[in-house]
Amino acid sequence: MANSSSPGCVLLAATMALGVVLLASPAESARAFFVFGDSLVDNGNNNYLMSTARADSPPYGIDYPTHQATGRFSNGLNIPDIISEHLGAEPTLPYLSPELHGEKLLVGANFASAGVGILNDTGIQFIEMVRMSRQLQYFHEYQGKLRAVVGASQATQIVSRALVLITLGGNDFVNNYFFMPFSLRSLQFSLPNYVRYLISEYKKILVRLYDMGARRVLVTGTGPLGCAPAQLARSRGGECDAGLMRAAELFNPQLSRALQELNARYGSGTFIAANTFRIHFDFISDPAAYGFQTATEACCGQGPHNGIGLCTALSNVCTDRDQYVFWDAYHPTERANRIIVSQFMTGSLDYISPLNLGTALHIDAALMD
Ligand SMILES: *[C@@H]1O[C@H](CO)[C@@H](O)[C@H](O)[C@H]1NC(C)=O
Repeated sequence: MANSSSPGCVLLAATMALGVVLLASPAESARAFFVFGDSLVDNGNNNYLMSTARADSPPYGIDYPTHQATGRFSNGLNIPDIISEHLGAEPTLPYLSPELHGEKLLVGANFASAGVGILNDTGIQFIEMVRMSRQLQYFHEYQGKLRAVVGASQATQIVSRALVLITLGGNDFVNNYFFMPFSLRSLQFSLPNYVRYLISEYKKILVRLYDMGARRVLVTGTGPLGCAPAQLARSRGGECDAGLMRAAELFNPQLSRALQELNARYGSGTFIAANTFRIHFDFISDPAAYGFQTATEACCGQGPHNGIGLCTALSNVCTDRDQYVFWDAYHPTERANRIIVSQFMTGSLDYISPLNLGTALHIDAALMD
């Protein structure tokens, strides 16, 4: 996959001319893809853990190609799956899957785990999870396995040419600072100071990724956390939760500034900031403009806004999932995920900076030939 020769050049010229990405043979030409973070991007690692944050039973997966619950927190494909489609690759396997060996390692791996945050003490109520320090340790372990299959120099190249996605931060607010009144972190920090602490810890994680060979890292901020159906269900007038909105409004701009600082050190475009707050806020402001009937009701759940408790076999499930932004109380439907990824691919600088993923993939493809 790394040393595709002249046919690749011809194809590249053709695709550049057309302005579209076409891949001859996904298995040979797609770059590797690595995924880190929380439930928004977990492909099923938690299925292998004693976790209460899991999506491995119906109706999760109701619209997945196999119609099976896989551990993805959606009705169908999630954000990493749709990015894999754009890469012309099969979905990455969860790192904990026993199927991840041999040639499959070349596709990449998904290390994400529902419930985790930037901080070690986030999500402890879910009991077991793969915390960020462990996700990075697994990435190190993965690289050893990859070297055993393709040799050291190829392995280094596969990692440096890979696309990396990391999604973190929501749980540090929802399942830590704001999880209950007088949480330890809220007694320890004012919200602005907590955000500063999160950003400083997040930077360490990103530097470690760079040190482990990552060179193209898509970093998503948090959505408008306070407007998730789970929060709307709890608020009196059904309005967005003010504390969580303030958290997201403090966190996202500081994250994007931190990424600018890292890019000044490591090279522009090493870290790409995706403004998921803005993308999601567009859905909330005008759902109809995106073909949604609602951005305030979850498709699967119970109670007000279908936002109380978990999505289970006993929940109400909407019939037309494509009409909903939210699948469950926190996570988007496949259709919302598709719009989110299309903004990553082609969005303007307000949505993704310093360059969009489509442009990054073009530039990288040219360098790889
Ligand atoms: C989180 O836990 C890991 C592993 O125990 C440790 O190495 C790391 O320093 C911890 N991070 C923080 C911020 O305490």
